Amino acid sequence: MTSGTVRRYRNYIGGEWVEPASGEYRPDIDPADSRTVLGEFPRSTAEDVDRAVEAAAAAFPAWSSLSGPQRAAILHKAANILEARAREIGEALTREEGKTIGEGVGEVLRGVAILRYFAGEPLRPLGEVYSATNPETFLYTERVPLGVVGIITPWNFPVAIPLWKLAPCLAFGNTAVFKPAELTPLTAHLITEVFVEAGLPPGVLNLVHGPGSVVGEAIARHPKVVAVSFTGSNVVGRHLYQIASERGARVQLELGGKNPVIVAEDADLDFAVELTTSGAFRSTGQKCTATSRVIVLEPLLHEFTTRLVERARSLKVGPGIDPTVYMGPLVSEEQRQRVLGYIEIGEKEGARVLTGGHELSEGDLRYGFFVAPTVFTDVEPGMRIAQEEIFGPVVGIIRARSLDEAIEIANGVPYGLSASIVTRDIRRAFAFARRIQAGVVHINSETAGAEPHVPFGGMKASSSWSREQGRAALEFFTQVKTIYFDLPPA
Ligand code: UN1
Repeated sequence: MTSGTVRRYRNYIGGEWVEPASGEYRPDIDPADSRTVLGEFPRSTAEDVDRAVEAAAAAFPAWSSLSGPQRAAILHKAANILEARAREIGEALTREEGKTIGEGVGEVLRGVAILRYFAGEPLRPLGEVYSATNPETFLYTERVPLGVVGIITPWNFPVAIPLWKLAPCLAFGNTAVFKPAELTPLTAHLITEVFVEAGLPPGVLNLVHGPGSVVGEAIARHPKVVAVSFTGSNVVGRHLYQIASERGARVQLELGGKNPVIVAEDADLDFAVELTTSGAFRSTGQKCTATSRVIVLEPLLHEFTTRLVERARSLKVGPGIDPTVYMGPLVSEEQRQRVLGYIEIGEKEGARVLTGGHELSEGDLRYGFFVAPTVFTDVEPGMRIAQEEIFGPVVGIIRARSLDEAIEIANGVPYGLSASIVTRDIRRAFAFARRIQAGVVHINSETAGAEPHVPFGGMKASSSWSREQGRAALEFFTQVKTIYFDLPPA
């Protein structure tokens, strides 16, 4: 694994590429072919985090003193560089995460759009003017940066999620310590390179690779990290929330989902099947916004089920780098085992696998972490496979007798990230939009997807109440200063 020909990457701290204090590295594997090692990345420790935080703290006074337009110029430059490198970085993303090349390059271009949007943010209003009791007082508010922010990100959107946190974080004048998922360090390296090339001053962005239990933990505990933005699992998120908020830091969590699509009686069936397929199987179901429950109204149940199974069977599964492939591998063997474990649980609970339900290992697929697109039927709303996040290419069909019942089932889980309905009837659509407990609601579009300029985030267990992206980012990455500006006696 650690052959001499494999490139060793480093952390980026205080404007320099540096070795980790431990001197230890970990291989980055291609999940479509685990024989391929893409590089070796630092196994950092609290010592590296401390250096990174100190560098970020040292860079904060100068960076936060720049004007919005000055910081915006660097973000615009980063957007252009990322755009020029979209193919290369998209390929790296596909190789280390497994999603298809269309999704990989598409995600990089989404990153470009995110950078462009947030480059515009510091040019928009950052405060308000009030009328004070004293007519001579100039009373106004100003949104000011927080300081050093910890950015802890998952492997499933290794370009888009870091950028939708880092771009507003930096645009508003904060400095950052960035801890990417251990499974996708290469894309994190490339993003950092883009910012460096764009002229970000030393210490403004610091990259520390390593395990969450060590590096993420050290970031959340560090007294100089004033805020932490995290996307990932509920278990890790709640833990980080506890330790960071306990010492007074601001914390933002984006967590899991168990997202439903309701197929109403009047739905166009082929359209419903396509939205479900895309929502459930794109990115191998590894999105917190992925569709994992299809709640189908009884009259359509049989025909919908037949067509969904047919469609799932037709999907080409293989290495995402092949442009004809619809679905790539799971990101790791551990994730594959987790998904197969849930399939077993579902069968034990009495649900039935209509297609898939097993790993794929013909030919070269045996070197990757592939699982066939899986459709369960006879799923009851209370089953574990209908309640818990699986994070893989598994979708369960649940029967409903009325729209009321469908909405009740949709709401009957701990999560509330995204939800969708397929209908032509505006009354059904309206009832759904009003009553569904989800932070992101889709009428006639799939559960996944998020535009950079609108708020994104979940209700209930899916977040910590806060939202990301759009103007919501301003709320998290800045704080309000209220200024009473009075004149001395003339
Ligand atoms: C999308 O659906 O395109 O980790 C974005 C996730 C979410 C982002 C989803 N935080 O899947």
